[in-house]
Parts: sequence; structure tokens; C-alpha cells
Amino acid sequence: MNNETEKEMITAHDLVFRYNEDGRPVLNHVSMGIKKGELVAVLGANGCGKSTLAKHFNAILLPAGGTVIVEGMDTADEDKLYDIRQKVGMVFQNPDNQIVATIVEEDVAFALENLGVPPQEIRTRIDEAMEMSGIFKHRHKAPHNLSGGQKQRVAIAGVIAMRPDCLVMDESTAMLDPRGRERVMKTVRKLNQDFGITVVMITHYMEEAAQADRVIVMGGGEIKMEGTPQEIFSQVEQVKALRLDVPQASELCLELTKAGVPLPRGVITTEECARLLYQLLA
Ligand SMILES: Nc1ncnc2c1ncn2[C@@H]1O[C@H](COP(=O)(O)OP(=O)(O)OP(=O)(O)O)[C@@H](O)[C@H]1O
Ligand SMILES: [Mg+2]
Repeated sequence: MNNETEKEMITAHDLVFRYNEDGRPVLNHVSMGIKKGELVAVLGANGCGKSTLAKHFNAILLPAGGTVIVEGMDTADEDKLYDIRQKVGMVFQNPDNQIVATIVEEDVAFALENLGVPPQEIRTRIDEAMEMSGIFKHRHKAPHNLSGGQKQRVAIAGVIAMRPDCLVMDESTAMLDPRGRERVMKTVRKLNQDFGITVVMITHYMEEAAQADRVIVMGGGEIKMEGTPQEIFSQVEQVKALRLDVPQASELCLELTKAGVPLPRGVITTEECARLLYQLLA
């Protein structure tokens, strides 16, 4: 293993995958890496292979060609399955499908109980996970009485209780209202920044991708673009050619620049855009 691989949480090398043996590849020679501590957004039009790629990150799917390495462990190595699943936790789109118990804290404890973790240890871990996910005050409630965003944070707490190094979120904010989305994003950023958890976040919301350290754009089972949010979203035409939008702030700044308004490149957040326009007007 070289130095680069050691720093990586997940490395896909020349990954090929098909759902049907004689079908077209859904992942077509994908090579990419997620560094430890990074928050990476994965973007791409519907059906381009984002979820299929994510399912390779904790061995739900195994490569037909190439390799996926999670912290030095090959996902094809059956002996490592338990360790890989423990290192990489998945959060999916629909919170209702991920919640099993009738009380929040029981739900968060569910996986640990199944693994036979001692009760005292479970108590410590779930309290910690509920604090980290911002749902501690709801711990005695019934999940069905919570909002979508709160439920999704219960699901995140359930994963965090396993003490993973990496969280993979497959459109985990897609079913939430704006406020729920914001709270989930805030939780995810906190888990990343304060607790060093690596995050891979698949999203269709460009404003969320703008908050990532790095953006990977997929198209037709391949990686088409890769860079910082600033680098990606200043290439408005290329992003649109992949049937994606850019954040509204990027679009507005591009149009204003075309119209001769002097604005810097790489403006992607609403706050920065507003600040620059305010300066120009003042
Ligand atoms: N279980 C399956 N069996 C057969 N084909 C599948 C299966 N799951 C996905 N596919 C196909 O594989 C391709 C990639 O699907 P995938 O779900 O990875 O895309 P995606 O980028 O996550 O899309 P979306 O944005 O809609 O979630 C699509 O053409 C899809 O129809
Ligand atoms: Mg998907």
C-alpha cells in the first residue's frame, strides 16, 4: 500500500459493475478516492450510477471488475465484510424505511443490541450518538411523531452509534422540507468538522454540494468532473451539459458577468453572492 492509499478512506480502482451479466455496465471503469476527513458530494443525473457506486462503498454490491478498498480492506474479501460495514455506515432516502422501533432511543440502540454489545456500552454509545445528531431531547418520543428531518437524524444517530469512520448518505435530504434539509446538513457538517467523520453525500441539491470540500460529477456510469465546488460550479456550461443545475448564486453571477458586471469567478453560495452585489450597489 502506498502513502496515498493509506490516507484514503475509500478507493475505487477501475470499477466495473453490471446488474445483468450481459447488460451494459452501470459503472464503467470508475476510479476515484475519498480521503479521510473529507466531505465529498456526488452529483449526477437520474440513473447515472450514483447509488450503485455508493453501494460498493460498504460491500452491499461487489465489483464485476476492478477493486474497491475501504481503509485498506478489499470489499471482495468476505472475511472483512463485518469490519467494512462497521467502518462505512449508510443512510438512505426514506427515513420511514430505516426506523424500526417505537421509541427513538430504542431505534438508535437497535443495531447495537443485535450485535450483542453490552447494555452499559450501548447506553454510552446511544447517548453520544443522539447528542451528536441533535436528537437527544427527542429520545423518549415515538419516531412517527417526529418531522422528516428529525426522523432522518434518528437514522443518522443509529448509524453513528456504530462508531463508523465514514457516513455515506444517498439522497438523505431528498424527502425533507427546506428546514429539515438544513438541520440534517448542519448535523452532517458537524459530524464531519467536529468529529472527523468522512462523509460521502449523494444529492440533487446544488446548494448542499456547494458546502462540500470536493464535488464528483457522474454521467453515464463514469466520472465526468471532479474538483472543489468553486471549480465545478464555475463551469456552468459543462455542468448543464450533464443535465445538472448549478447553485442559483453561480447562475446569477454568470449572467451578470456576461452582462458586464465585474464579479469574481467561483461564487457559489447565496451569502457570498449577496455580499458582493451589496458591495457593488453601495
Ligand atoms: N436492482 C437493479 N437492477 C437492474 N438495474 C438497476 C438496478 N438498480 C439500478 N439499476 C439501473 O442502473 C442504472 C444506475 O442506477 P442508480 O440507481 O445507480 O442511479 P442513480 O444515479 O442513483 O439514480 P437516481 O438519481 O435516480 O437515484 C440505472 O439505469 C438503473 O435503472
Ligand atoms: Mg440513486
